[in-house]
Amino acid sequence: MITGKILGTGSYVPPRVMDNDDMARIVDTNDEWIRERTGIGRRHIAENETTSYMATRAALRAIEQSGIAPEEIEMVIVATSSSETIYPCAACEVQREIKAENAVGYDLNGACTGFVLAFNTAQAYISAGLYRTILVIGAESMSHMVNWTDRSTCILFGDGAGAVVLRAQEGEPVRMAAHSDGEKGPALKGLSRHRKDWDCKDSDKDAYIRMDGQGVFKFAVRKVPEIIEEILEQSDVSLEDIEYFILHQANRRIIEAVAKRLKTDISRFPMNLEEYANTSAATVPILLDEMNRKGMFKRGQKLMMAGFGAGLTWAGCLFEW
Ligand code: COA
Repeated sequence: MITGKILGTGSYVPPRVMDNDDMARIVDTNDEWIRERTGIGRRHIAENETTSYMATRAALRAIEQSGIAPEEIEMVIVATSSSETIYPCAACEVQREIKAENAVGYDLNGACTGFVLAFNTAQAYISAGLYRTILVIGAESMSHMVNWTDRSTCILFGDGAGAVVLRAQEGEPVRMAAHSDGEKGPALKGLSRHRKDWDCKDSDKDAYIRMDGQGVFKFAVRKVPEIIEEILEQSDVSLEDIEYFILHQANRRIIEAVAKRLKTDISRFPMNLEEYANTSAATVPILLDEMNRKGMFKRGQKLMMAGFGAGLTWAGCLFEW
């Protein structure tokens, strides 16, 4: 069976860091509350870096590790919901910057589920024999989206990008599933303002990310284990065969609750949200890249990725490294 193997990974986060004490200087919060409720300690915040700039830096690292030439890339998909420009899309900006002159590029807005949806889309193209080499990126400037006067949301998010290069090879098919529940969409809404408005007025608040935190929490804790089980049912792979569960990094307590529901040791659920917070579509590829560069993956290992977020949407996939 033809499947998309990961040839290389890359990531980029802006150098500017805001820790929880910095947040406490902007809104009425503190390090203890944020750590206890979310597990977040710091977040990287873009200053002049745009979404497509961060996507390009991550892509160049993934390409370098892959050992391929940019001209070999046939498709660039950028999962983002916070690009500064609607068009040209971020993927076309990346295509230009990395000189992938033979590629078609487009963006995919799946919010925090975006990277997993884009990865699955790329896998479908590859297994159908339509494309051989696809660059998949998750990139977000969440700092432009949040209301910096709303302590219940602004502490949760950060900026960054991660990328993978997929190449058609013989291998086990990727198993995948994805769902939406548009009825519950109002639980998490966002409108990009493309600026950091530290002094937004109360009347502006609807124009930023608005969230029913507890509703989203409950949704994630229920739907992520469900989709993991749904994917496993499609295969002869059992929960015990999975080396790592690479989940969207929104909240440590969500990940712990998922591990508990699946009766699986938390050590198989790697996390880096303490350092980066929730970078939406970028969390999964940033974590993949960090794990890859630490040498945590071996060929043949079975990995499960899962994302969840606005829409509401949730998606997952099981693949072999
Ligand atoms: N610092 C201090 N206090 C805060 C705070 C902050 N940053 N944010 C909210 N509070 C307060 C609230 O105002 C409330 O105070 P009150 O009891 O006086 O009204 C209290 O803390 C409890 O708020 P609540 O919303 O019930 O807290 P919670 O335990 O549900 O935690 C979240 C809030 C947002 C951390 C939690 O619901 C969550 O993580 N949800 C998932 C969100 C998410 O990950 N979304 C993205 C998915 S892609």
